[in-house]
Amino acid sequence: MTALTTWPAHDPTTVALATTNAALIGSFLGGLGFRFERWPLVAGPRSAARAEDVLAAYRDPIERVARADGFAQVDVVALRPTGAPSFAATAAVARAKFRAEHTHADDEVRFFAAGRGVFYLHTRDATRGEEVHAVLCEAGDLLFVPAGTTHWFDMGATPSFTAVRFLHDPDGWVGDFTGSDIALRFPDFDTLACGGAAAAGA
Ligand SMILES: [Fe+2]
Repeated sequence: MTALTTWPAHDPTTVALATTNAALIGSFLGGLGFRFERWPLVAGPRSAARAEDVLAAYRDPIERVARADGFAQVDVVALRPTGAPSFAATAAVARAKFRAEHTHADDEVRFFAAGRGVFYLHTRDATRGEEVHAVLCEAGDLLFVPAGTTHWFDMGATPSFTAVRFLHDPDGWVGDFTGSDIALRFPDFDTLACGGAAAAGA
């Protein structure tokens, strides 16, 4: 289930907010400059690996976002267990790359057509202070992370997701890593996905 967990950035053991209410998640993140949407799921291609099937199934909302925000390119990235012995190694490399705090010169916008992943948003707000927000995204969720946001992404030990990417410029999505190890101090994908928000505060 889609979930939001918020902690003070200096204290990953104290949960400031935990909710699975999509409307609350949307309004809370909206107040911090992000955008979260729930799209009605299309039954057919939810587990399909073919990019063209995913893009066709969600053509209307994809075009809406691409037009509204001026995205020049839309593609699909997918990772799911294959049963091949090499999968674990491939997955570990991919996970480590994105599970390190970074920023991008471009917006990072993802729509999950299948599977799950957690975006961690590291914010500094004049009212709320410095916080980390873990957004556990599942099929049907769109998250818009503005350019310059410090964040990381955890796909878990056994990644399984299909996500639509919106890009203004493919070169703008290169990660600029902060060098911080903050990502390793917060509950990871597997903790949040299996134990929920309550486990995150344990
Ligand atoms: Fe990123």
